[in-house]
Amino acid sequence: MELIDRLNSRQAVIGILGLGYVGLPLMLRFSEVGYRVLGLDIDAEKVDKLNAGASYIEHIRAESIAGALTQGFSATTDFSRASECDALILCVPTPLNKYREPDLSYVIATTEAIVPHLRAGQVVSLESTTWPGTTDEELRPRVESTGLTVGEEIFLVFSPEREDPGNPTYNTRTIPKVLGGVTPACTAVGEALYAQVIDQVVSLSSTRAAEMTKLLENIHRAVNIGLVNELKIVCDRMGIDIHEVIHAAATKPFGFTPYYPGPGLGGHCIPIDPFYLTWKAREYGLSTRFIELAGEVNTNMPKWVVSKVADALNERGKAVKGARILVLGIAYKKNVDDRRESPSMELMELLEDRGAEISYSDPHVPRFLPMRKHDFDLESVLLTPESLAATDCVLLATDHDRFDYDLIKAHAPLIVDTRGRYREPAEHIVRA
Ligand SMILES: NC(=O)c1ccc[n+]([C@@H]2O[C@H](COP(=O)([O-])OP(=O)(O)OC[C@H]3O[C@@H](n4cnc5c(N)ncnc54)[C@H](O)[C@@H]3O)[C@@H](O)[C@H]2O)c1
Repeated sequence: MELIDRLNSRQAVIGILGLGYVGLPLMLRFSEVGYRVLGLDIDAEKVDKLNAGASYIEHIRAESIAGALTQGFSATTDFSRASECDALILCVPTPLNKYREPDLSYVIATTEAIVPHLRAGQVVSLESTTWPGTTDEELRPRVESTGLTVGEEIFLVFSPEREDPGNPTYNTRTIPKVLGGVTPACTAVGEALYAQVIDQVVSLSSTRAAEMTKLLENIHRAVNIGLVNELKIVCDRMGIDIHEVIHAAATKPFGFTPYYPGPGLGGHCIPIDPFYLTWKAREYGLSTRFIELAGEVNTNMPKWVVSKVADALNERGKAVKGARILVLGIAYKKNVDDRRESPSMELMELLEDRGAEISYSDPHVPRFLPMRKHDFDLESVLLTPESLAATDCVLLATDHDRFDYDLIKAHAPLIVDTRGRYREPAEHIVRA
């Protein structure tokens, strides 16, 4: 087949739709092996930045973008250029709406934007995390509205992204990629697309199985994190250190995988994706109780942490109202700059609502500007003996490696540690 030949010989033009945390690394990888990549995004500012050789994501270096530009990469907001591409890979957001139901509007909008420009000999791959059936029920009819036959003239696959920003061990090439095609021919084309850039492609029997695989991976994390968060509260009441217990259990060489408690769930995936399945399962008259329960436990963590802060201040004869509380880390996980769904923001809001004076320090987020859900306008505080001593409480929310933990321990009058970073007990360190 001509399309497979073009993919194998790297003559194919790869279109990436949505140049975010998922789309950009994928663009770099296709570019690196010699494909010409066209990036399509609705955000003109992002497109201009990338075309100027700049990066807007901390862990992606500007030199990498510049290198891709010399390989023929360019970005555009002009979706009619989709017709130039042999492959169209959709990496657009799949959030929840205010009723915590799937918001597929980005996927639908992107699909509808490219439909007028589709032609025979193209492959469309959806990478956005979504409910089982999306590719078949939402994308396929729209692609077929062109009159092209899926599996013969045009090819459609679902292949979920497994990006782990900041992971030093695995990268886009070495993380195996799951794939399911609408027809066997679609799967074969999808394999040709990804086999050039990913070491191992894992093909499944259907797009639905591939969609469900991604959800299983994220539900597995959400449920297990919910479990350790619940056990953390039990251990706290019993005077047991949950981190000591987890480290001990992890010495078992089989049948146990460690998960670590924290101040709540964060990021663009784990707090959101499981509810895509919850929503779809209702159509089948089923409820997903593990997901709901984990969601409940994880959502309550910030409130529990705030109660621990209040207790710790109270022990020292202080109230939350008027207390100077310095939150360490506002990214949702360590060593990244991503603040999406970060529990730190909820902690800051809850404490501010109770009258605390909030400041923060995060070496990865120098400025904290108002966002859709928050109106903080703060600058990251430099950690010095003086700035630490001037607080009533330091709340360790995200344990970035770049923090100087000895300095913090030496000068903060009170530390509430939600990450188990301080293993040695100390009078002024409280675990939460
Ligand atoms: N971030 C991760 O680590 C990660 C990991 C695995 C899976 N995912 C999934 O991948 C998908 C994308 O996530 P992300 O983190 O890259 O999101 P992101 O917000 O970083 O990037 C999405 C990009 O899509 C663009 N966009 C929005 N609407 C568009 C449209 N109609 N057409 C073209 N571009 C459009 C945005 O401007 C943005 O640049 C989501 O479904 C997410 O659940 C993300």
